[in-house]
Amino acid sequence: MRIKNICCIGAGYVGGPTMAVIAQKCPDIQVTVVDINEERIAAWNNEDVERIPIYEPGLPAVVQEGRGRNLFFSTDVDTAIDKAEMIFISVNTPTKTYGIGKGMAADLKWIELCARQIARISRNDKIVVEKSTLPVRTAAALKEILKHTGNGVKYQILSNPEFLAEGTAIQDLLHPDRVLIGGDIETKDGIEAISALSDIYEKWVPKSKILTTNVWSSELSKLTANAFLAQRVSSINAMSELCEVTGADVTEVAKALGMDSRIGPKFLNSSVGFGGSCFQKDILNLVYIAKSFGLKQVAEYWEQVIIMNDHQKKRFAANIIRTLYNTVSGKKITVLGWSFKKDTNDTRESAAIYVVDHLLNEEAEIAVYDPKVQAEQIYKDLDYLESRNKEANRLNLNVTNDPYEACKDSHAIAVLTEWEEFKTYNWEKIYENMLKPAFLFDGRNLLNIEELTKIGFVIKSIGKPA
Ligand code: NAD
Ligand code: UGA
Repeated sequence: MRIKNICCIGAGYVGGPTMAVIAQKCPDIQVTVVDINEERIAAWNNEDVERIPIYEPGLPAVVQEGRGRNLFFSTDVDTAIDKAEMIFISVNTPTKTYGIGKGMAADLKWIELCARQIARISRNDKIVVEKSTLPVRTAAALKEILKHTGNGVKYQILSNPEFLAEGTAIQDLLHPDRVLIGGDIETKDGIEAISALSDIYEKWVPKSKILTTNVWSSELSKLTANAFLAQRVSSINAMSELCEVTGADVTEVAKALGMDSRIGPKFLNSSVGFGGSCFQKDILNLVYIAKSFGLKQVAEYWEQVIIMNDHQKKRFAANIIRTLYNTVSGKKITVLGWSFKKDTNDTRESAAIYVVDHLLNEEAEIAVYDPKVQAEQIYKDLDYLESRNKEANRLNLNVTNDPYEACKDSHAIAVLTEWEEFKTYNWEKIYENMLKPAFLFDGRNLLNIEELTKIGFVIKSIGKPA
């Protein structure tokens, strides 16, 4: 089966970049990315391609190349579904905030709405691709919904989880470690659907990297991959606390570990805690699934990854308070970096939100600088926690576009995102304009301790001897 039209429902951090790359690599396929969020679609269509809604290195050029040729962004979901032979579902699947499974299970409301819309609109056979991260066995529910339309349309459901990381999305999409396609490998129609999707990726991904499994393995592999990655961060963060009390240095420990080829060097950077829209949500979901099958030990094992991460964020904030003579009330503390990692404007579950919330509870006055995150987003993130009223958040936290202004007259600086530009600052000038002792809490082990200590800063790093 040759695919000529693709529809992707969800123009977010996954749908947008993924479809832009498919459009680039398959100029003979028309790719339409649809979303109910009008503002977001308008931003994807912004004439100035640098102002698309997602900051991701390399993305504007890829969008520019395809937009108007074979890449379209639209709010007309029905038309795009009708026209497509293949429909990707790439909508959000956040943690449920109500009812059964509140705070744990994935909220599949948007997934189900997509399925019902596809069922309502479709007039010819479709391949439906799960791109969103979903609990294992979601495809069975989708199948049920699509089966009962009574209009003779046949559906194949594939699972094709996305492994891109934000900040490196384009490189990850262009050179994936693997592409995973789960489908009905026992039927002719299933195999045909898998090969239709595989043909698309084969335009730029070596066939040896395209892995085919049954649907359940594919769905579960995605949750497992995120759990393993997050577990590595929590493991090294657990060691960072032990390093601080024993005189070991977590960077040296990580290096020694990483040189063991069975362990490998990546993803061993100790930090203020992992953030992002997925690690926490996917592990909570995994824990919920394990619990719902009565697998108590499995659930508890993975839950520890989250417990450790929460502990790391809390102890970072507590360390600031303790170091500043047990009170930050009325003291100016500067936060450098708000996004959950460098090279993205995404702030979902960023450690910065929780560290700052803690400091605001202690009546600190916060100044924030982030090269890509807007003030509006920062206030929105804090308001969402409902720790205090909106006015108090605006009164006690100030966002500035100038890092030097942000650091002026402050008692302490906390580096919470590893933006490269922080390394290039004139730290002497920053030091001169701060109150003394000038404390610097490096939540990413980003800065050069030796140089900064020479300038006069008192530095507190993660996992380093005091
Ligand atoms: P996102 O919130 O950025 O985008 C989702 C979009 O879907 C939103 O713009 C929303 O308006 C739209 N949407 C929701 N329901 C809709 C509907 N019924 N019709 C049309 N549009 C609808 O989310 P994201 O970060 O792109 O994540 C999407 C999925 O991909 C999630 O399941 C996530 O776990 C997974 N994932 C995310 C990443 C990542 O780096 N962000 C990586 C891999 C996988
Ligand atoms: C992660 C996975 O890496 C992707 O494979 C996956 O597709 C994606 O989740 C998803 O499903 O959403 P992402 O969250 O974008 O990608 O970014 P990561 O690079 O994984 O970083 C996650 C968090 O862990 C960040 O806050 C980062 O700063 C932190 N981290 C990462 C560390 O603290 N130390 C490390 O060594 C690595």
